[in-house]
Amino acid sequence: MLRSAVVALTLCCAAPAAVAATCSVDLEGNDAMRFDKSSIEVSRSCRTFTINLKHTGQLAQAVMGHNVVITTESDFPAVDAQGRQAGLENAYVKPGDARVVAHSPVIGGGETTSVRFSPSRLGNDSYVFFCSFPGHSALMKGTVTLVP
Ligand code: CO
Repeated sequence: MLRSAVVALTLCCAAPAAVAATCSVDLEGNDAMRFDKSSIEVSRSCRTFTINLKHTGQLAQAVMGHNVVITTESDFPAVDAQGRQAGLENAYVKPGDARVVAHSPVIGGGETTSVRFSPSRLGNDSYVFFCSFPGHSALMKGTVTLVP
């Protein structure tokens, strides 16, 4: 009786630390037009989730700029195309685009930036992250998955 109570207590109190959510991720982009990750997991238990983006290359923002944009897989083609038209002055995102869950500024080599959003913005849909610099999403794209 006492023994099982101790076991239960141990299980009880070890569990929260074991499943504590990580509410940020470090993402790198390089001069070869690649991210270092193809998937990002976002815990729904996080109040906010932060993506820290680092450009590990040397090329300038106007040549090899990188950002990170989150939208649904189905909205991605149009968001990407209209972002391209919006230009660098708008971080290659159509101003006020409600299909965009979150996006960071565009950075060049050696720079860092971050973007923060509420996991509650992610519904029951398939989401992607990508770089909206013209032409980059062909290589710089991955999945965003909501996890417990
Ligand atoms: Co890019």
